[in-house]
Amino acid sequence: YRIAVFASGRGSNFQALVDAQRAGVLGGDICVLVCDKPQAPVVGLAQAAGVDTYVFQPKDYASKEDYERGVAAELARKGVQLIVLAGYMRLLSPVLVEAYSGKIINIHPSLLPAFPGKDAIGQALQYGVKVTGVTVHFVDGGMDTGPVIAQRAVEVLAGDDAETLAQRIHAVEQKLYPEVVSWFTGGRVSLDGRKVTIVE
Ligand code: GRF
Repeated sequence: YRIAVFASGRGSNFQALVDAQRAGVLGGDICVLVCDKPQAPVVGLAQAAGVDTYVFQPKDYASKEDYERGVAAELARKGVQLIVLAGYMRLLSPVLVEAYSGKIINIHPSLLPAFPGKDAIGQALQYGVKVTGVTVHFVDGGMDTGPVIAQRAVEVLAGDDAETLAQRIHAVEQKLYPEVVSWFTGGRVSLDGRKVTIVE
C-alpha cells in the first residue's frame, strides 16, 4: 500500500507514521513526503528516515492548480494510493481532490465541526470548552469539512494553556493517525456519501 504524506511544518505526525511503518504496524509504505516549505523541520525528518521528498514553493508557480499538477505527476510516478495530510497548511484544489477522491485524509486538533481552520487549540481555549480533541476525516474541497473517520476526546484541564493542551492533543494524534492509516491499508474503511464505515 503506497502512501504519500503531505506536511508543512514540525512533522511530529509524519514521524509517528514513519515509526509505525518501521514497527510493522502501518501496513503500507510511505514512499514520499510532499512539502510546500523547503525550510520546514519535516524535510529533515524525511531525509533522516530515508523517505523521498518532493519539495516545492507555491510562489514558483502561476497558480495552485499548476503546482498541484506537479505534485499529482509525482504521486502518479510513485503509484500513491493514499494521501495523508499531516499539518499541510494549504487547501487542496480539485486537481488533487478529484484525482484522489476518497483517498485523502487529514488530522485536525479539535472535535470537528467545532473549531475548523487555523489555531483550533487556541480557539478551543478561547471559547472555554471543557472537552476538545482530535478528528481524522476525509478531505473534500472545504476547510476541515469532509466526512469524519475517527475522533478522540481530550479534556481541557483547569490550568491548561495553549502549550500544555497542545502537548496532550499531539500525543493523542500521534497514536490515532497511524492506527487510522492501518485501517485503510487493511481495506477496512468504506465511504458512502458522508457515512464512513470501519469494517471489523
Ligand atoms: C497537528 O496538530 C495537526 O492536527 C494539524 O497540524 C499539526 C501538525 O503537527 N493539522 P506536526 O507537523 O505533525 O507536528
